[in-house]
Amino acid sequence: KFEKIWLILGTVTLVAFLSTIGIQAFTSPDHAPPSDLTTIEPEEVETTAPFDEPGLKKVGENEYELVMILQSFGFTPGEVEIPQGAKVKFIVTSIDVVHGFEVAGTNINMMVTPGHINSMTYTFDEKGSFLILCNEYCGIGHHYMSAELEVK
Ligand code: CUA
Repeated sequence: KFEKIWLILGTVTLVAFLSTIGIQAFTSPDHAPPSDLTTIEPEEVETTAPFDEPGLKKVGENEYELVMILQSFGFTPGEVEIPQGAKVKFIVTSIDVVHGFEVAGTNINMMVTPGHINSMTYTFDEKGSFLILCNEYCGIGHHYMSAELEVK
């Protein structure tokens, strides 16, 4: 008889516990609408906005979003040109392993884990050529993993 009570109590507790998790899942930021997307399944990155169209997008007066995909051992796109004074929001993710995203000579430095969306903003006041490199060891081609950003 007691066993039955414990079983019912256990079940009730479990159900209560699971529904709490369920409620949290719906209210937590991880499950916010796609516009606030922070993670994507790595295999779905290339078909999910904004990563379905990587590259530079003008969003305001000399303000840009630069969407980049990192993959062993390169960046997509590999070359980018922006006008002097441009404020650029880098939006990056990886589709395979952990990479690093560093724009040499700036404070842009991010660890890029698969499917996790990372972003940082920087204003390029000076003309010149900036090297974008991977600063996280990601395999045999790590040292060749780079891209170029030209400020004109
Ligand atoms: Cu990618 Cu090192």
